[in-house]
Parts: sequence; C-alpha cells; structure tokens
Amino acid sequence: MIMEKVAVVGHGTMGAGIAQAFLQGGFEVLVIGRDHDSLKRGFENISMSIEKGIAKGVIGHDKKEGLMENLKPSLDYNDIEGAVLVIEAVPESYQTKTMVLSMVEAHAEGAIIATNTSSIPVTKLSEKIRNKERFLGMHFFNPVPSMKLVEMVETEYTSDDTKARAVELVSRIGKKAVMVRDYPGFVANSILMPMLNEAAVLLEKKVAGKEDIDEIVRLGLHHPMGPLELADLIGIDVCVDIMEAIYAETKDEKFNPAAILKAMRRDGILGRKSGQGFYTYQS
Ligand code: CAA
Repeated sequence: MIMEKVAVVGHGTMGAGIAQAFLQGGFEVLVIGRDHDSLKRGFENISMSIEKGIAKGVIGHDKKEGLMENLKPSLDYNDIEGAVLVIEAVPESYQTKTMVLSMVEAHAEGAIIATNTSSIPVTKLSEKIRNKERFLGMHFFNPVPSMKLVEMVETEYTSDDTKARAVELVSRIGKKAVMVRDYPGFVANSILMPMLNEAAVLLEKKVAGKEDIDEIVRLGLHHPMGPLELADLIGIDVCVDIMEAIYAETKDEKFNPAAILKAMRRDGILGRKSGQGFYTYQS
C-alpha cells in the first residue's frame, strides 16, 4: 500500500509534535528545515518524544524504527511534491510565514495548505496564496501528542472540499477537528490569553503567590494545569507574541500583555524551554 505523504515546514515544539502525530497516524512525514543543524535537532527531538511515548506505554516498543523510517528530514522544498497536506509551523511572524507559504505553494500542486498560526489572521496570510480555496488554518495545541483538538480556521475562500478533506486527515491521527471562522485569536486563544494575562496581573499585584494562583485554578476551576504553569508550557515569548498580535487587531485591553510577561520575554525567562519561567525546570 502506498503511504500518503504529509509535509511539515518547521520543527520547533509545534512542528515536531505535528510531525510525530502524523507519523503515529500512519503517514510518511516530510519535515522541511531551515539549515542542517537545526533540522538535525528537530529530528532528535521527534525521536526523543517517540521514546517518551514508548515509556508512557502509548507507543508500542517495536514501533520506533518503523516510525523513524517514515520520517524524512529535508532542506529542499521540491520534496513537497506529492504531499496531500502541507502544514506551515514556522515562528509566529507574518513575513516568515508568508515567505514560507509562497515557497510551499510552488511545490504543492493539489495539496491542502495549512498554517498552524495561533494568532495571525488566516485571511491575511492567504493574501500571498494563489489557490486560496485550498488554504486554511490548522491550529494544534501543546503538547501535540496529548492534545485531542485541532482548531480549524476557514477563510471566506476555503472550499467545502478542502474543509472536508482536512477534517478527515485530522480524524486519521486520532484528533477532533472543530471548524471556526477567522477571528483574532480564533476561539481558543480569545478565551485562554485573557486568563493567562489576568493570572500574571494578579501575581504582579501580589493578590496571591504563583503556586496559590495555579492551585486555585486547578482545584477550584478544575483545569488540568494552573495558568502560570501553562504559560511556562506554551512559552512566555509565544504567549506575549499571541497577545500582542490579538491586541494589534482588536485594541482590546484584555490582550495587552502584563508588564511581568513582557519583562520575562525581554530577559529570556521563557518557561520550560529555557529552564526558567514562573517556575524552574531541570532539563
Ligand atoms: N508521544 C510522546 N509524548 C507523549 C505522548 C506520545 N504519544 N503521549 C503523551 N505524551 C506526553 C505528553 O506530551 C506529556 O508530556 P509532559 O510530561 O512534558 O507534559 C506527558 O506524556 C503526559 O501526558 P498525558 O497525556 O499522560 O497527560 P497528563 O494526564 O499527564 O497531562 C497534560 C499532561 C496533557 C500536559 C495536561 O496537564 C494538560 O492537558 N494541560 C493543559 C495543556 C493545555 O491547555 N494546552 C493548550 C495550550 S494552548 C496552545 O497550545 C495553543 C496556543 O496557541 C497557545
């Protein structure tokens, strides 16, 4: 049986997680990187995450080799040829994303083209896409291997066929697709970001300590994680980028990042990935 190919451009936290999800779903996965060294690191991160899945018992012990054989790292956009779906998962910058999307489109004949943006309007990104009917947002959640949702963002140009095919592909990796209209922050971050921001403001005002704020939300509101530990998981820089992007679109003060968050980003206190955020992490 010929395996279908999915291409992922970018291999940071989100790109690597998305690649792993499609590998586990039985796809051949091409991962396009920027340079040899960072691509090698991305490949190693995917390999380590698969090990973690094995240790947790969610991936069979004998599956790793087969999964890694289906993972094709590349620096060449020509290799996208033949993919059924291409997902752009590069950093949250309009310039970077539109540049990548233009290069993707030149090699993605007939494929669905998706962006994993969490805050840039998908319609704005579609301005640089010629085949707008094949383009949509596919917003994955961190940690991708565990999170069951993909927030699908349609523009006024996305065709019904594209939506149906994208939903079907997502269901084949065991995730649930929910379609929403393009809107600043879509649904998830419109709800989540004001909560994370408010938690940071409450900490700034010394209303409660960080552990207590998190415990109140975990035990009182029954969230799996408190907002400050969740901000550390997402990345403080990513949270501030998302808030600033939504604030730029809406001018709604609830998205204006708290001073403490901006200071943490400035000082490289970025959460789990830097070893220090609201909490300290051992690598
Ligand atoms: N391969 C590799 N690792 C796997 C795996 C697999 N197949 N399946 C699970 N894991 C990992 C998980 O990633 C998780 O890793 P960490 O220890 O590093 O967190 C670990 O195994 C445990 O995962 P479980 O599924 O067993 O879940 P848990 O019950 O221990 O809960 C959690 C962990 C899923 C992180 C949970 O605390 C949770 O749901 N937290 C909230 C997360 C959340 O809200 N995420 C959304 C953030 S917003 C976002 O991402 C979008 C945006 O635009 C900002």
